[in-house]
Amino acid sequence: MSAAAAPFDAVLPSMDFTGQVAFVTGAASGIGRATALAFAAAGADVALVDRDGPACTPVHAQIRAMGRDALVLACDVTQAGPVRDAVAATVARWGRLDCAANAAGVEGATRPLLEEDDALYDRTMDVNVRGVWHCMRAQMTQMLHQPGGGSIVNVASGAGLVGSARSAVYGASKHAVVGLSRSAALQYARQGIRVNVVCPSGVQTPMAERIIASFPDGPPSAAGARYPLGRYSTPQEIASGIVWLSSPGAASAIGSVLAIDAGFTAA
Ligand SMILES: NC(=O)c1ccc[n+]([C@@H]2O[C@H](COP(=O)([O-])OP(=O)(O)OC[C@H]3O[C@@H](n4cnc5c(N)ncnc54)[C@H](O)[C@@H]3O)[C@@H](O)[C@H]2O)c1
Repeated sequence: MSAAAAPFDAVLPSMDFTGQVAFVTGAASGIGRATALAFAAAGADVALVDRDGPACTPVHAQIRAMGRDALVLACDVTQAGPVRDAVAATVARWGRLDCAANAAGVEGATRPLLEEDDALYDRTMDVNVRGVWHCMRAQMTQMLHQPGGGSIVNVASGAGLVGSARSAVYGASKHAVVGLSRSAALQYARQGIRVNVVCPSGVQTPMAERIIASFPDGPPSAAGARYPLGRYSTPQEIASGIVWLSSPGAASAIGSVLAIDAGFTAA
């Protein structure tokens, strides 16, 4: 006798993204790379968007080896035109854009506010805030004009939730990403677009390696010990949250701010 079917309210919504199209910025490295691979593993075809197009080649090959389609789009997210072109190229290839993950970002500097300068301020804000602004506007424009709407997950930081002892401008840029995301979520929820944010802290990526190397008092001997979990997060752990927020199971997640940070902001 076959097992009884699970009652309706005991069935988890699907995490199968087969037939869906994901658009991931910062896809050449770290969290963006892991997110692109996670979407492909879940069945999606993926547009790999990064200012360093050639660095996306290995990710492209990995996704094709999984049997999914992928497209490399060299694009600086600080420029509105190329971002619109990247969305247009994605839609030209697959006909739609279901899930966007905006992970492209820069770390700013590890030094006190009075030692930061205008050029650093402009660069940090330009990539981390203007970049997300450009991406959301191009992605939402497409999502509003297709059946089914879409999901956008922006990558902020624990530095977008609490003060940053080492990098005020970076912290300000990530607070801005949280604010932009929440406001966009409110404005477009009824039109079928969900916008959410993940806030990682201390993730094992090239960015984290650069930050640790820049500490003025030398690299901490055990950087991971600063986190309640006792270690850094992996890029895959952040990608997992992004994919969940993009899935039907997160249908009621609207403007939510998900800390995945080894406990950093729980203190
Ligand atoms: N690694 C961490 O500890 C950590 C913690 C909190 C938040 N974050 C955030 O996560 C995101 C990803 O960081 P990561 O650690 O994977 O960094 P990373 O440096 O490994 O990767 C960032 C990617 O973004 C791309 N990029 C940078 N500027 C760009 C631009 N103008 N246009 C297009 N692409 C651009 C880079 O080429 C790179 O491939 C960033 O927004 C970062 O602020 C990271």
